[in-house]
Amino acid sequence: MKLLKGTPQRRILCTGMNPREKITIGTLRSRKQERRKISMLTCYDFSTARLMEEAGLDSLLVGDTYAEVCLGHPTTLPATVDHLVTIAEAVRRGAPTAYLIGDMPFLSYQVSAPAAIRNAGRFMAAAGCDCVKVEVDRRLVKTVEAMATAAIPVMAHLGLKPQSIQKLGGYKLQGKQASDALSIVEDAKMMEEAGAVALLLEAVPQELAQIISERTELPVIGCVSGPHCDGQVVVLHDMLGYGAGHPPRSVKQFARLRELLLEAFYTYAKEVAEGIIPTVEESGSMDGAQLQALRQSLKL
Ligand code: KIV
Repeated sequence: MKLLKGTPQRRILCTGMNPREKITIGTLRSRKQERRKISMLTCYDFSTARLMEEAGLDSLLVGDTYAEVCLGHPTTLPATVDHLVTIAEAVRRGAPTAYLIGDMPFLSYQVSAPAAIRNAGRFMAAAGCDCVKVEVDRRLVKTVEAMATAAIPVMAHLGLKPQSIQKLGGYKLQGKQASDALSIVEDAKMMEEAGAVALLLEAVPQELAQIISERTELPVIGCVSGPHCDGQVVVLHDMLGYGAGHPPRSVKQFARLRELLLEAFYTYAKEVAEGIIPTVEESGSMDGAQLQALRQSLKL
């Protein structure tokens, strides 16, 4: 195990698996300035986090979509701070250098600024997140300001806010009308002034995403918002072709995991049923003398 160089508070103990420097908010800001896109995926477990770290993903989001894709709920609302902090801890163990974002679930920050700070503190202190994400508009600007004052780095999620889905009445593109788009542009500016460190735009028109990305110093991550943001995030299960596909999110599939896994499960079940596995060769055996002694004890 060796100690890698880095900023003093961000030295990484590395097992040799991945020798890159820790990705910080400074890295993401430089990437925006250099026009080098930021790659981000949602992640919900240690093993997948390890693979993402090895593949060089810049950033991982422990999203409240966990409630949908891992727990099978129709919305993100049932995700809790306990769920997501536990998962974020595991993801951090798997991905020590990625920029890790903890998604604050429904009602963990909307009720009051002190509650938001306390809950965010768990993502930062217990899970080692680099930042927390909150779904906001101008009505929560004071909360974002209070969190920033408490030294909590905040990613402001604007546009489609799945925690408000019951109010929105469906997963639809947000900001198609000029007045709605202007309101999102203004919200983005307010979040920057309140001290947010990054923005996430979900399901807004690409033209609006471009305007916002060009008008802010903050790294802007897009989710189904076109190619003009500084980075891109999608839900893991959607890009892997894995899962029930709820809600419908049209993203490019990079694998067909559903077919691959179905085939593996089907073959496994068939081989167990037919007695093909486990084989004698892949099983352990007793020493002959020990087996003899056992037989004698059992009078076999
Ligand atoms: O929770 C989540 O996975 C998200 C993404 C859809 C951006 O917020």
